[in-house]
Amino acid sequence: MVYRVGVLGCGRKGPQHARAWQLNPNAEVVAATDTDPENRQLFQKRFGVPMYTDYQEMLRNENIDIAAPILPVKPNHEVVMGCTAFDLKGILCEKPITDSLANADEMVEACRRQGIKFGCGDLDRNLPDYWEAKQYIDSGAIGDVVSIDIHMGFGAEWDIQSLSITRMFAGDAEVAWVIGWVDGDPMSDDDQGQAGYIRFVNGIEAFRHRNADAKSGIEVNCAKGAFHTDFSYLSLWRTEDLTAARKKTSGPPRLTKVEGVLDERYQHEGSGELDEDGWRWAGNRNIATVQSIIDAIEGHVEPSGSGENSRKCLEIAIALRESHRLGHVPVQLPLTDRSLKITPPMSRWLDKKQTVGIEEYRRSIGGWRPGDV
Ligand SMILES: NC(=O)c1ccc[n+]([C@@H]2O[C@H](COP(=O)([O-])OP(=O)(O)OC[C@H]3O[C@@H](n4cnc5c(N)ncnc54)[C@H](O)[C@@H]3O)[C@@H](O)[C@H]2O)c1
Repeated sequence: MVYRVGVLGCGRKGPQHARAWQLNPNAEVVAATDTDPENRQLFQKRFGVPMYTDYQEMLRNENIDIAAPILPVKPNHEVVMGCTAFDLKGILCEKPITDSLANADEMVEACRRQGIKFGCGDLDRNLPDYWEAKQYIDSGAIGDVVSIDIHMGFGAEWDIQSLSITRMFAGDAEVAWVIGWVDGDPMSDDDQGQAGYIRFVNGIEAFRHRNADAKSGIEVNCAKGAFHTDFSYLSLWRTEDLTAARKKTSGPPRLTKVEGVLDERYQHEGSGELDEDGWRWAGNRNIATVQSIIDAIEGHVEPSGSGENSRKCLEIAIALRESHRLGHVPVQLPLTDRSLKITPPMSRWLDKKQTVGIEEYRRSIGGWRPGDV
């Protein structure tokens, strides 16, 4: 089947999603909508599809199977909820899902009620390489996962990418409790750098480091080995098999690299390279992200980077801050106060054209195909 995709939001990230959908043999971008006339015109020139100013009119007229809202975070809740009123098979929006837990609950529940497969975010978690690493670990080759180290040290953002991978390697288990802190004022709802301890119900523990360090990325520590990603290189490690004689003399076994399981490298979405048609390469990650929605629809399963995953990641991030608010005490999940929220930085919350300035914005939106702005 070829699914009819409608893109909602044709800014900087919208064309990347559209190109990834266009490259998928089971999907076709048939229409798009944007409230900004300049971005609408640019998208029309690139993709040659009917353009709408009102997404509901597009959904009414174009027999859309999959809606792709690639919007600033502020309108995302309202638009995703609006989409659920239509007979859709899938929705793939961008991340972060929204600001509050109450909004995230509504979005996840509405999609579930309507039988719509709901994906949120072009996530590293959607890349097949991570699932191959997980499969290797699940085979028992390097023992059970014991702990996960998150070395991210980014600026302000609470970072759904790393929490999504952490959840994945913890078997998507529920979180029992966390202890955490934020960089600045814990009483502020603004997105801030954060750190802490995350205890999953299955006993796996994750340590979220706050400051940038030499070991950027995520380390999944297993009983007899480890998996490491710096979001560019992925590698698996296992302890040496020591003979009984050597065990006596050589101290703890060293880690050696596992060869032949992972490619260890993937082309990141920001590469800017051109594909064979002369379009900017949509990136392995965005290509995998759109495929995950088709897999979910056809396999009757949840997308790997589901809306539910995004809601759970938001809840962990809020709980880490909540712990600081309450005096660094352990905070149990699920959180009962669903009005709690994190307001993303303005450059994600609002249209980027408003927040980065028009000249800078125009420079950053071009280059999708030959002759583009
Ligand atoms: N997964 C990732 O790695 C990644 C990377 C970049 C951006 N993002 C996310 O993608 C989203 C979009 O980012 P961007 O850089 O493209 O922003 P942008 O401001 O360039 O684009 C947003 C577009 O949405 C349009 N829009 C706003 N409200 C609308 C509405 N109600 N109906 C239709 N169109 C509307 C705007 O006019 C604009 O063209 C953000 O949520 C951001 O966090 C994710």
